[in-house]
Amino acid sequence: MKNLKNALLLKQLYQLKQLGYRYTDVSIFKEDESALTLPDDLEALKAQALKCHLCDLSKSRTNVVFGEGNPHAEIMFIGEGPGATEDSMGRPFVGRSGELLTKMIENVLLIPRKEVYIANIVKCRPPNNRAPTPTEAHTCQPFLLKQIAIVKPKLIVTLGATAYHYLTGDETAISKVRGSIVQQNGYTLIPTYHPSFLLRNPSAKKDVFEDLKKVKALMQPKG
Ligand code: URA
Repeated sequence: MKNLKNALLLKQLYQLKQLGYRYTDVSIFKEDESALTLPDDLEALKAQALKCHLCDLSKSRTNVVFGEGNPHAEIMFIGEGPGATEDSMGRPFVGRSGELLTKMIENVLLIPRKEVYIANIVKCRPPNNRAPTPTEAHTCQPFLLKQIAIVKPKLIVTLGATAYHYLTGDETAISKVRGSIVQQNGYTLIPTYHPSFLLRNPSAKKDVFEDLKKVKALMQPKG
């Protein structure tokens, strides 16, 4: 929750600076602690995210793309951030890379897309499809961590370097870590390539196929 508090504090400071303040006392920040805690319920969390203005991405977004899927999903996919189609529809992975992700889920893992949960590092579209900045990613992180805590997936699949990096803090190249099983804060994570990378580099599809086979094996009930 520290990220959220800091982001709010920073926003208040910027607003005061714009009003002409050059110095202020901390005592003017009397934020109610309960207003800073995120709800333990996905719908209430979504309602809070839809109202979020904690970073500049909120200024250029059309819709907040909170995430979607089975609230009790065993597998959670995490991408980088909404693109133009997602921004206009308010849903994750519904553009070209979304079509490919859906095929990966339904044709390789053999589960309907609606049975997994899909979210992103940031909930609002970074302009011109750039990667989220560290400030944007860290400001949005409490929402993602809460989604993970509520859904409690058995396995998280991060899509691309950005999602893996911001979720783990590890900056190892995605080509080196993909397909490995990473334990992170009590959950199990497998990084793989982002579908948009696969659209540009179809020869990497075989690597993702291998990674998804590993996902499938991990999800098999142990007999
Ligand atoms: N790319 C992402 O990382 N996320 C989306 O939701 C769409 C495209």
